[in-house]
Amino acid sequence: MKIIAANFKMNGDREFIDNWFQNFNADTENLVIVGLPPIYLESSVQNFNKSNIKIAGQNVSKFNNPGAYTGQMSSAMLNDVGVEFCIVGHSEAREHLCEDNESVYEKYNCLKSFSITPIVCIGESLEVREANNHLHFISDQIEKFSTNEDKIIFAYEPIWAIGSGLVPTQEEIEEMSSHIKSYFSQQVTVLYGGSVNSKNSSEILNMNNIDGVLVGGASLNAEEFANIAQS
Ligand code: PGA
Repeated sequence: MKIIAANFKMNGDREFIDNWFQNFNADTENLVIVGLPPIYLESSVQNFNKSNIKIAGQNVSKFNNPGAYTGQMSSAMLNDVGVEFCIVGHSEAREHLCEDNESVYEKYNCLKSFSITPIVCIGESLEVREANNHLHFISDQIEKFSTNEDKIIFAYEPIWAIGSGLVPTQEEIEEMSSHIKSYFSQQVTVLYGGSVNSKNSSEILNMNNIDGVLVGGASLNAEEFANIAQS
């Protein structure tokens, strides 16, 4: 069983999401996770959560207790409306919301304390890759998790591959996934994300050490995403 995760980012509205789930027909054993904008989480959990289709948040507060955090949403709130998965550390949140490795780890712990499964995004910029620093850079991003014994889910998403149509070579993806896995004594799950579509998904999902995919742009088309989920 692989994990096939969608990340809608800040796209869609109520009608779009309803239509998407009506049109998403995948005959698959894989676990499908759909990351939606926060305002649509509760109704989508009620209407569309199934045993192998789960609704996910795309971010959460690093603060665990209720309080004066205007505009934020806690893990308790996600749990309250039945959300079971949540993305943290996406490069777009790191960039636009100034998140760092420390806050991503805090968010991870908040989610875990409410039994929500985090999907921790990591990935290097093109500059870092061209300087041949990518393994070191990713080690820094996962270091905080090293004392942790959980079965962590990481999504390796090179920033230069997100929304660009560029996909790393099989060797590059496998090098990184084995680097991440060898960092931990327990088994960890590694998804690949960045320009995944129905044309390249089976090759990626067949790679050694890749346990699934995280799909942005191509997930917005329900038929396309169903093809990815079935690949
Ligand atoms: P993309 O985005 O599939 O559009 O490249 C992936 C992501 O940002 O999670």
